Amino acid sequence: MKKILVTGGAGFIGSNFCNLNKDEYDIVALDNLFLGDAENLESGVGFVQGDACNIEDLAQCGSKFDFVVHFAGTSSAPMFADDGFVEGYVNSIQSFCQSLEFARKVGAKKFLYASTSSLYGNNPMPLVETQSVTPPNHYAVTKFCYEHCARIYHQVYPEIEIIGFRFMSVYGPHEESKGRYANMISQFIWDIARDLPPVIYGDGEQFRDFTNVVDVVQGIKLALEADEKLGNKVYNIGTGECCSFNDILKEINAALGKNIEPIYISNPVKEGYVRGQHADISKISNELGYKPTVDLQTGISHQVRHLDVSKIKETSSDLIRDQYAS
Ligand SMILES: NC(=O)c1ccc[n+]([C@@H]2O[C@H](COP(=O)([O-])OP(=O)(O)OC[C@H]3O[C@@H](n4cnc5c(N)ncnc54)[C@H](O)[C@@H]3O)[C@@H](O)[C@H]2O)c1
Repeated sequence: MKKILVTGGAGFIGSNFCNLNKDEYDIVALDNLFLGDAENLESGVGFVQGDACNIEDLAQCGSKFDFVVHFAGTSSAPMFADDGFVEGYVNSIQSFCQSLEFARKVGAKKFLYASTSSLYGNNPMPLVETQSVTPPNHYAVTKFCYEHCARIYHQVYPEIEIIGFRFMSVYGPHEESKGRYANMISQFIWDIARDLPPVIYGDGEQFRDFTNVVDVVQGIKLALEADEKLGNKVYNIGTGECCSFNDILKEINAALGKNIEPIYISNPVKEGYVRGQHADISKISNELGYKPTVDLQTGISHQVRHLDVSKIKETSSDLIRDQYAS
């Protein structure tokens, strides 16, 4: 069996990636449990509690890997606010560089990493990889840095392929440990399930290309298993469709058999709020055969069916929440 190291493997996307691939690969998840939860991982996935910024912790995971998938890092824009500013940059950049060096030194053929669609800011839609981007917040700056670091690193060390993914707004199970940093779909489900009115920034007509985590895993796996050399590339992963927060609330109310009205407040986000997000997915579709498989209604009803209300931490009175792009 081929071996994969997944940094940030106990987090939301990381744990879904590990669980969905555990029968085909020998997987070790490394996570410092800053936002992750080891209980997200199913049996059959190896787990090391440690920091991807730290070479000794990476070395504890093993000395030979075929692939490294890097999800660790400071994973959304609000985490850079106030006291999170310095730590956010250091954690994201150091964990990326350390994991990339580790991957090359243990002979990994590919290093796959999470970038973000937040890079696009309010660019014209559909958002396509060839557009020039100006990152609108610190979080997006760290991902822009990843992409350029990857490009230069690959020029120096062409033996390791380095592929980045600009995920759109990802939703799915295993977000409870992220609390107020979870995707809006999770947070709205948690509110409505407990008869709390969700709080919406603005009029609720902002829209996102909400992408089920199963399809994010699909896109990464296609790149990991591609036979032809990909070299250094960046792909969007989305659905090519979009939905407003108001329409998401209707779906969730319907899935839960409720009719909870939201509370609308004026938008407190100061740094370049993203009004809309709609991906062009033709690059990953044409080059890797990616095709979204989970529509919103199916994804939301699956998440609602697997909801464990006892794990929910946040309440709708907590207004410091992520209503950014991704
Ligand atoms: N969720 C989305 O919609 C979305 C969209 C675009 C990009 N991304 C990116 O995808 C990646 C995964 O996102 P997620 O939503 O699963 O977030 P997450 O916070 O659930 O996952 C990140 C995991 O990394 C761990 N971690 C953080 N720093 C670490 C370190 N130094 N060493 C070891 N572990 C560390 C955290 O404990 C957490 O479990 C992140 O890089 C994020 O920026 C996510």
